[in-house]
Amino acid sequence: MSGIPIRPPETDETEAALNAVYNWNYDSEIDELRTLYANALDRQWIAVRDLDWEKGIDREEFAKTFSLGGFPVEQTDFWKNLDADLKWEVSRKSTAFMLSNFLHGEQGALMVASQMVSAVPHTDGKFYAATQTLDEARHVEVFAAYIELLDEVNPIMPSLKRVLDATISTGSWLEKAVGMQMVVEGLALHVFRDMRNSTREPLLKELLTYVSRDEARHVGYGVKYLSAVVGSLSERERSELEDFAFEAARLLVDSRSGGSMRISMLEIWKECGLDPQTVFAELVKERERIDPEMQRQSVTGPVRGFIIPSLKSVGLFSERLEGHFRGMFEANFGERAKTMAFGDRLPENLEEWVEGSA
Ligand SMILES: [Fe+2]
Ligand SMILES: [Fe+2]
Repeated sequence: MSGIPIRPPETDETEAALNAVYNWNYDSEIDELRTLYANALDRQWIAVRDLDWEKGIDREEFAKTFSLGGFPVEQTDFWKNLDADLKWEVSRKSTAFMLSNFLHGEQGALMVASQMVSAVPHTDGKFYAATQTLDEARHVEVFAAYIELLDEVNPIMPSLKRVLDATISTGSWLEKAVGMQMVVEGLALHVFRDMRNSTREPLLKELLTYVSRDEARHVGYGVKYLSAVVGSLSERERSELEDFAFEAARLLVDSRSGGSMRISMLEIWKECGLDPQTVFAELVKERERIDPEMQRQSVTGPVRGFIIPSLKSVGLFSERLEGHFRGMFEANFGERAKTMAFGDRLPENLEEWVEGSA
């Protein structure tokens, strides 16, 4: 039989555990989740229709305003004076690496959201998770398409793969919610918003605006749902959830967990012919002149400024957990971590927080 040859898929399997929970009560039980579901339906978008793919990537704007995980390299005179081809190479390769990990994270989110439809016990929670499943499919679609314009998809970082595996394979829906909705999506929302604010590349800005608007709802789901149920957990269940959250955050941001995003990024610079030592020396020299807002963001960061406040807001931030986080920051940043401030409050309205910014 003849037909169009289809490339064999490159797959990788993780055993996924969950109990599918029926709920025979179809009335709304958690009104806030029902409202969030209605919002999600109202704010659906279509990637091929609503984004202007035709215009492609504006290379100059892209290289001028790409974001390097908190290093404002592109704002230095040193960077501005580099050869245009080198700037394009470094910025497109580094960004493709970063966006590839977002893409893989989105695939993980797609699978976890679909698991949540079965695993959560409340009808409102199932309805909402169904919309998130569709959102995540769209995110996989748009990141893959944008990366294709830039370079090629890079492999997933081992630490991110471990977080996704742990979240997919646990049988506890609460752990799935904490690992995915609070930690992975909290980190993603924070990074997407930063990147959206700093980039002047029109297609990327547009894409990140749509995606972060969805992500704001996803984090909102975790916060609202967990706030409603954490109070009814036993002390032991609560501390197990805290441990799960900490382990996920640790894998993603602790420089000791190996293969961090920054280290991989520096390798990419070297491959393109840009020496990281020189770049940092120039960055230090020009520090004074560089936008103070950028520096402030790199100091606050997604964990202290976002993930910790979201854990606090759902009642999953005991003194014991605070000690774990402080220990991690001390190991990464030394003495000054002893007095580092942790954020207290999440923005009241996450969608406004995303869209109200630049
Ligand atoms: Fe997503
Ligand atoms: Fe998401």
